[in-house]
Amino acid sequence: MSFLELTHLSHCHPNQTHGLQHINLSLDQGEFHCLLGRSGCGKSTLLKLAAGLLTPHTGQVLLQGKPMRQPAQHIGFVFQNPTLLDWLTVWDNVLLPASLHGKPSPSRLTQAQRLLHELGIESLSQHYPSQLSGGQQSRVAIARALLLQPPLLFMDEPFAALDALTREQLQDKLLEIGAQHQSTVLFVTHDVYEAMYLADSLSVLEQGQIVHQQHIALPKPRYDALRTSADFMHLAHSLRALIKQLL
Ligand SMILES: Nc1ncnc2c1ncn2[C@@H]1O[C@H](COP(=O)(O)OP(=O)(O)OP(=O)(O)O)[C@@H](O)[C@H]1O
Ligand SMILES: [Mg+2]
Repeated sequence: MSFLELTHLSHCHPNQTHGLQHINLSLDQGEFHCLLGRSGCGKSTLLKLAAGLLTPHTGQVLLQGKPMRQPAQHIGFVFQNPTLLDWLTVWDNVLLPASLHGKPSPSRLTQAQRLLHELGIESLSQHYPSQLSGGQQSRVAIARALLLQPPLLFMDEPFAALDALTREQLQDKLLEIGAQHQSTVLFVTHDVYEAMYLADSLSVLEQGQIVHQQHIALPKPRYDALRTSADFMHLAHSLRALIKQLL
C-alpha cells in the first residue's frame, strides 16, 4: 500500500477553462517526489489538493489507504509565499504549530532552537516578519513546517527566494532531516537541477496533466560532490531536454 495516493483527481478553479485532470500519483513512505512544470500549469493547486487544503471535484487522496481528513493532520506545509503572522516574532511564528495545542513542551522549544540554528536564522528570533528579507522569511516558514517533524511534508518552491549557496545548504539539510524522520515529501520546484538532487522520483505537469514521471537513479544519501558529477549532469541534461520537448 502507498503512503500517499492520489487517484483520478480532477479540479477546476472558478472561471478556469481546464484545471487539473486525471491526476494519479503514488508515494511510498519516506519518498521524496518533485513536481515540475511551467508557471500556471497547476503545481500549487495539486499540492493543496494532496494536502487536503482543497477538495477535488473527482477522485480522492488516500493517506495510508484512508481518505485524507480535512483539515489534514500531521502534515507540514510551506506555501509559495511564506504566510507568516506579522504580529508574532520569528520565534513565536516557528512555535505556532505547537502553541496551537497549548504551551509548547521543553523538547519543542529545543527543537525550535535547533531549527533556527540549522536554518541560519537564530539571531533573528526576536525580529518580526516585516524586518526580514524574503529569503529569511522563507527560512522561518520552513522551520515552522518542520517543527512537529511531520511524517508528510508539502513544500511549494520553498527555496525560490534564496541565493544559490544557501539553497544548496538547505537542500542538504532538508534531505538530512527528511531521512532522520522518514518524512514523505511532495516538493514543487521550477529547477530541474534541484529536482534531480532532491528527488527519488518526479512528475512533470503540463496544462493540468502529468505528462511524465520518472524515478531518479542516483545514489542516496545525496552528497555535495554529486552535483558536479558526470552521472548527475548527464541525467539532468537528459531530463532538461525531455522537458523542453514535452512543454
Ligand atoms: N484561487 C484561484 N482562483 C481561480 N484560479 C486560480 C486560483 N488559484 C490558481 N488559479 C489558476 O489555476 C491555474 C494553476 O495555478 P497554480 O497556482 O496551481 O499554478 P502553478 O503551477 O503553481 O504556477 P506557478 O509556477 O506560477 O506558481 C492558473 O491558471 C491560475 O490562474
Ligand atoms: Mg505555484
